[in-house]
Amino acid sequence: MTATAEVPGSAPADGSWRGLPAAQQPDWPDSGHLTAVTEELAGLPPLVFAGECDVLRERLAAVARGEAFVLQGGDCAETFAGATADSVRAKLQTLLQMAVVLTYGASVPVVKIGRMAGQFAKPRSRPAELRDGTELPAYRGDAVNGFEFTARARTPDPGRLLRAYHCSAVTLNLCRAFATGGYADLHQVHAWNQDFVAESPSGQRYERLAGEIDRALAFMRACGADPEELHAVEFYSSHEALLLDYEQALTRNDSRTGLPYDTSAHFVWIGERTRALGGAHIEFARSIRNPVGVKVGPGATPSEVLALIGRLNPDGERGRLTLITRMGAARVRAVLPPLIKAVIAEGIEVPWVCDPMHGNTFEAPSGHKTRRLDDVLDEVQGFFEVHRDLGTHPGGIHIEFTGDNVTECVGGSRAVAAADLHQRYETACDPRLNRSQALDLAFTVADRYRTRPAARPPAASVR
Ligand code: PEP
Ligand code: CO
Repeated sequence: MTATAEVPGSAPADGSWRGLPAAQQPDWPDSGHLTAVTEELAGLPPLVFAGECDVLRERLAAVARGEAFVLQGGDCAETFAGATADSVRAKLQTLLQMAVVLTYGASVPVVKIGRMAGQFAKPRSRPAELRDGTELPAYRGDAVNGFEFTARARTPDPGRLLRAYHCSAVTLNLCRAFATGGYADLHQVHAWNQDFVAESPSGQRYERLAGEIDRALAFMRACGADPEELHAVEFYSSHEALLLDYEQALTRNDSRTGLPYDTSAHFVWIGERTRALGGAHIEFARSIRNPVGVKVGPGATPSEVLALIGRLNPDGERGRLTLITRMGAARVRAVLPPLIKAVIAEGIEVPWVCDPMHGNTFEAPSGHKTRRLDDVLDEVQGFFEVHRDLGTHPGGIHIEFTGDNVTECVGGSRAVAAADLHQRYETACDPRLNRSQALDLAFTVADRYRTRPAARPPAASVR
């Protein structure tokens, strides 16, 4: 992140999205309390600066041109209890280790974006949850209600939006400190490979790679070169822009340009369930200057995707809009090509990012919601195959992981069996890769990226 000193500007006129249908909004029991909270949020400092968002947009433009790769990841749902130094450091460690594997293994600059410091709200397939004859509102993320299955915890509480803001602030503060304060220095490449992961096959493979990096760094030092870039990383925050009252309260006009930025995160995305063209979420994303993403599932049609691009990026600005596809391993090879063909036929370049998690969730016999690492790898493989066949750039991955040794996804080089899921199943929402599984994925992605055909034919020949 590049620190900029601009003073945040005024709040923009209230959102143009108001009055449009907004899916997945909580039923706040007390609208007066919500108003008081959003007014308080509107007076609090921005979490990110507009200038930082602009730099990220440039980084994503490089991805669209085929010159860099996105690594975006973190929890499905962050929790307030998880905003601790240990937990944040472990997640960042995972991101850094994956990024090193990709940068070194695939020789590509990696744009590092955490699903962190704001990922506190969840869309749900069902508004209510039934347990033993009792029905209560579904858990919608710590920004809305509590996970505990009691009427009190499940009642939406606007006060939680303030806690979400403060937990985002402490998390981002830690991330900024880790990213620039020495922890992310490439000379620390061995130090990130500690605890349970060091013993796993992917941890050992990582250790060998770290040894090669050590030798390269020693060689550079011997030559008198010690570039600044090796001592810190650029880290960006992101989350799903789901709760529009919260996002609007943190939207400010940039004092340099007068343009509105959502200062809750550098990058926000609109989810698969809220991306209706005429809906409030797309209108909110249209109204801000941040780089934005849209999740695209297997039901999306080419004309829908073109309409989303028309709405969110009418000027074809590279890096403004990222398409995050989440098709499922079984369908990606069939449903992704028509979408990419339609986009390149219009001469549009976007970062295409693969989310190999959300199309591959199923329920294990034990009742745990889980994913097989093999399916995740297969969707990534399919994503690379499709881009190879079309001559387009596989721009990145978007994943759910944690830094801890959880047992939420099945498989991996240090395998988690379906029967092990209960051992450390800690997620507040979807199952996450543990650090060893995340490294397995990083090595596979680095191999696929390195061995993909280098030249891209002109878009016109690919129709
Ligand atoms: C998510 O990213 O956690 C999510 C809910 O994804 P999607 O909108 O793709 O279903
Ligand atoms: Co999820």
